Amino acid sequence: MILPIVAYGAPVLRTVCKDIQPDYPQLGKFIEDMWETMYASSGVGLAAPQVNKDIRIFVMDSTQIFAGMNEDEKKSYTDAPGIKQVFINAHLEELEGKEWAYNEGCLSIPKIREDIYRNETVTIRYVDEQFQPHTQTFSGITARVILHEYDHIEGKLFIDYLKPLKRRLIKGKLEDISKGKVSVDYKMTFPR
Ligand code: NI
Repeated sequence: MILPIVAYGAPVLRTVCKDIQPDYPQLGKFIEDMWETMYASSGVGLAAPQVNKDIRIFVMDSTQIFAGMNEDEKKSYTDAPGIKQVFINAHLEELEGKEWAYNEGCLSIPKIREDIYRNETVTIRYVDEQFQPHTQTFSGITARVILHEYDHIEGKLFIDYLKPLKRRLIKGKLEDISKGKVSVDYKMTFPR
């Protein structure tokens, strides 16, 4: 089932999400719906608060980004061909490597893209769908997508990294998004 995506301005996008227990009702179905929703909206990642649940789950698929690259482009990243994975109860362990810029967007903030600096490498602790614990290190585009989605479960958005001037320049657009004055080809809910 495709779920509506929550637009910028909704309080759930500013909530620090909670860990879940293995008996969380209909977890398998919810994760299935997250995948379906992410692909239906051409996203490379989706976090639970974006579908109005304040729990620590996100799905991501960096293979989609590599699929659109030529062989030379792929060579500049250490993590090609990317991964497709669900992260439950994720907690950041360590950030390493130098910060690099990448043009990011977000399904909750349509039509806005900005260059955002993030660390090259992330070590993250999480459980899989069987609630088996993992601690894993990711880099490149994969780390980029993970960090963007991880921010969502911490109540942060990519626009938070913009300098005040840049932020002021997009203020009107953000206001419009929260009021539904934006055209998108996927289902959304708007806070105002
Ligand atoms: Ni996002």
